[in-house]
Parts: sequence; structure tokens; C-alpha cells
Amino acid sequence: MRHGHTQDLTVDIGEGRSYPIRFVQDAKEVLAKLVTDQADSSGKLAVITDMNLQLAHPELFEQLLKEIPTFVVSPGEPSKSVQRLGELWDFLAQIQLDRQGKLVALGGGVIGDLAGFAAASFLRGVAYYQVPTSLLAMVDSSIGGKTGINISAGKNLVGAFYHPEEVLIDTRLLESLPATEFSAGMAEVVKYGLLGDLGLFQKLEDLDRLHPQHPELPSVIRRCCEIKAQVVRDDERETSSEGGRALLNLGHTFGHAIEKVAGYGVYLHGEAVSIGMIAAAELSHRKGWISMDDCDRIRILLERYDLPVSLQEKLLAEDLLNSMKRDKKVRSGIIRFVAMRNLGDSFTTSDVDEILIRNCLTSIGAV
Ligand code: GLY
Repeated sequence: MRHGHTQDLTVDIGEGRSYPIRFVQDAKEVLAKLVTDQADSSGKLAVITDMNLQLAHPELFEQLLKEIPTFVVSPGEPSKSVQRLGELWDFLAQIQLDRQGKLVALGGGVIGDLAGFAAASFLRGVAYYQVPTSLLAMVDSSIGGKTGINISAGKNLVGAFYHPEEVLIDTRLLESLPATEFSAGMAEVVKYGLLGDLGLFQKLEDLDRLHPQHPELPSVIRRCCEIKAQVVRDDERETSSEGGRALLNLGHTFGHAIEKVAGYGVYLHGEAVSIGMIAAAELSHRKGWISMDDCDRIRILLERYDLPVSLQEKLLAEDLLNSMKRDKKVRSGIIRFVAMRNLGDSFTTSDVDEILIRNCLTSIGAV
């Protein structure tokens, strides 16, 4: 089904800086325009993508982007490496991309982060476009200018805040996404409801299961983008002492630890966040902020998308706790959690003792 038009949004980042999130009916047409516009200008265009995208859209690469230098990486987190970034810099130098050149990040979060950091660093900064192709990238990683790569000490430890010229969202690109990836993105969608919009959470409860062709999907994605844009506007560099951009990490303190201790690749990021949100709900309940009924509502909604709500294998609470203590969000050795005061109303808190954290870890199946 062809969706109606979804209104564009603006990400306002202060000091007169802003960029649009455009909801487009056909990203291919928009890419075609970028290709012709760039052909008329002095700079080159280069596309960064992954092999899955290339396989899913052969017509795009064999026709429209045929003449456009394209850097293709293997799908998955390992491509956010120093080595791949080095190869990308060499590629950009080899095609003689100059300061008028532009990059197009066509892919999910990995591509957006890698291409965005290449754009931030090559020639000390060239323009780039985010064309997210996963639900997670559409609602989260393509917006807000966080770019970067992983190093052996941890994920996203090297990077820059560097915003794109535009974010172009075409929800039809989700049709070629594996169902598990779509579900993982839904964990982030649920997160937006929990962190700041009870109405969105209730809408998700009321709607039947969303899928790439669902007529309500574009408006749900738009609402998530709107919340993200607002959070980024208020705290672009995540320096707020309370709340702010850190709220986007609801479920992530536990989730990052789960991803790391289980071994990267065991859970999709969104799956780990799903379990993490259950742990955050448990924490909020044990603190007396949300009810058991609220916890059940969160679990039921996540289960509707076949998302895990407890650990799928035994992990040691001790290991998870140690990993949380080393999270890069930790300030002066104190773990900051995002907790819920109510559904749709989250806040950051460090007032959580270790026994409570261990109890929350036990409740999601840690031993
Ligand atoms: N994905 C979290 C953030 O953009 O801050």
C-alpha cells in the first residue's frame, strides 16, 4: 500500500543550525536528483552502503548509481572498525573527493555511523546525507549527528558529533528488511513512548502489529523522529546533568551490558534494549514509581513484536554489573540509569544501590 504524505520535520541544533528530516515517497527519485544536482556541480558524490543493500536493490546500483563511486562494506557491527574507516578514507582520496563532494550513507546504523564519521573527518569535514534503511536508523541513529566507530576497548568510543545535510526517510525501504531487524527497531519505537509520550505508547498498544506496509507506520516513525529531534535540540552533546539526551538510553544501560557480556552479535541491539527496558521497568517498579500493571503492559507490547523480555541464556549478574560500571555513560564511577516515573515520563537517576541492580538483573534471568 502506498502511504500518504508524511510532513517533514526540522532538527534544530541551535545557533541557527538546522537540517530537515524529509519523508519521501521514493528515496530512489530523491537519490536520482542528488546524482543530477551533483553532476551539475563541481564536487563528486560517493555512496557508502553494505552488501545486503546491494543485493536487495540491484536496480538502484546497476542503473541510478552505476556511475557513482560506491564503497561497500560487509553488513554488521564489525564494519565500524578503524581498518574499514581507513579504507574508506583511502577510497575517498582515490576518487579525489574534494570539499565540494558529498557522501550518501545508504544503510542502517552501522553505515550511518561509519559514513558520518568519514564525512566528519575526511578533509576535516564534507557534507553527507543520511538515507536510513532500517527502522532503528530511521527513528534513532540517523538523527542527531552521533557518528563513530568501535575500538577494542568498546563500542562507539571514537567518533564525532557531525550532523547530516538532510535525513531522507522512505519507509518502503523497510520492505526488504528481515523481520527480526524490523522487530529490533520496534524496541526503540516503544522506548520513545516510554521515555516521553504516553499517547504514543497507548497508540502502539491499540494498533495491531506494525509492519513495513502498515498505513500507520510513517506517522509512528515521524513521532519518534519528532521526539528525538526535540531531545537533540535541548541537549545536542549530552551534557545535561539531568535528563536530556541521556533519556534516549532508556533500557540501554542494561542493554549494552547484555550485548557485551553475551558477546556482540548474540542479540541484535534492539533485542538487548528490549530486555534492558524490562530491567529498567523492574527497577522503576521496585523504587515504587511504576506499578506491576505498567510493567506487564511494557512486556506485552514488546512480546507482540517477538522481542525477548528475559535473557535467552544464563549470564552472570556479576559480569553484567561490572560491564555496566565500565559503560562510557558512567560519570565519576556512578552508574546513571534512565527510570520511569510513569509510563511516558522518564528521568535519569544515580540513586540506585547495587542490591537493587542485582535484583533487577536476577529478574531478567541473570544468575
Ligand atoms: N542513540 C542515542 C543518541 O542519539 O543519543
